[in-house]
Amino acid sequence: MKILVAGGAGYIGSVLVPLLQEHGYEVDVVDFLWFGNNLPAGTRITQQDLFTLGAEGFEGYDQVVFLAGLSNDPMAEFNPALNFIQNGALPSYLAWRAKQTGVKRFIYASSCSVYGYTVNELYDEDSPVTCGYPYGISKLEGERGVLQLRDENFSAIALRQGTVNGYSPRMRFDLIVNTMFKCALQDGVITVNNPAIWRPLIDVRDTSSAFLRAVQADTSISGAFNVAYDNYTVGQVADLVKDEVERLTGKKVKVDIKDKQDFRNYKVTCDRARTYLGFKPKYDVPDTIASIHRHLETFGDFSNPNFYNIQVFKKLEL
Ligand SMILES: NC(=O)c1ccc[n+]([C@@H]2O[C@H](COP(=O)([O-])OP(=O)(O)OC[C@H]3O[C@@H](n4cnc5c(N)ncnc54)[C@H](O)[C@@H]3O)[C@@H](O)[C@H]2O)c1
Repeated sequence: MKILVAGGAGYIGSVLVPLLQEHGYEVDVVDFLWFGNNLPAGTRITQQDLFTLGAEGFEGYDQVVFLAGLSNDPMAEFNPALNFIQNGALPSYLAWRAKQTGVKRFIYASSCSVYGYTVNELYDEDSPVTCGYPYGISKLEGERGVLQLRDENFSAIALRQGTVNGYSPRMRFDLIVNTMFKCALQDGVITVNNPAIWRPLIDVRDTSSAFLRAVQADTSISGAFNVAYDNYTVGQVADLVKDEVERLTGKKVKVDIKDKQDFRNYKVTCDRARTYLGFKPKYDVPDTIASIHRHLETFGDFSNPNFYNIQVFKKLEL
């Protein structure tokens, strides 16, 4: 089976592409390479804006996985207009092109951020979505554009991922667990803006296995699926990171609690992904921290701008 991974050179793609290759899929990547290229040697990569892909760009592919766009709130807020284009219009355009060209399935990297600020209830995929901020709205737009194309000949799957964490060869230190790990190690202090806020979290290896399950799923399956390991409060995550970093390094870590409001608060259930995709996450927060710690030597300096999407993005002058 031949798969096109759009935006496959990023944080998730750099773990997912080798996983797909290990499972025998032929994978091609089209990516701007904003954060460089850390994919396995021999991976076919085209450095190109996905908006410039015409019908010929999809010929011969069985499935398309979409991992592109602006991948966090700071990027979306820095350039809201571009955010709506890259996250809302681009997935819709690519899914339409894919369907027209005879591709059988399109898998979209959605986000639990579509849920917005919820009260203390577990949200499933039929719960209301109430996000009022650029990143969430645009991810929802992209998801809706893709999903409404589904029919008996075209499967469309949106994976609403919790915040993804852990080690990737294209590393990010702007994701909750990864950031706390870096702060604990570098400064001995984890700052928590609001300890009561809920977030579903998922290790990058587990989210990659969710994409693999989506690739493998019966052709009749379409729709939105929450994917996370579990829901945690930000205060809980800080305590877990503190304990693990203290255990691994022997250094003392302080947790500094602030009282700032957040515009995102949600916890989700992943029963649908378990039932329909056979998705079973394996890695909890301590596993995630251990995976980052194992690769400590490879990071060099934590101040490398490539670890922080917003720093690279601001310099692109798009
Ligand atoms: N990382 C998370 O916690 C998380 C959570 C939920 C959803 N998501 C979604 O998953 C996807 C992947 O996330 P990530 O963390 O790997 O992001 P990332 O920023 O590391 O990677 C995105 C990649 O897409 C490429 N790209 C962006 N727009 C492009 C375009 N128009 N043409 C060609 N290439 C383009 C970039 O060069 C980059 O390599 C994103 O769509 C993001 O919104 C991520």
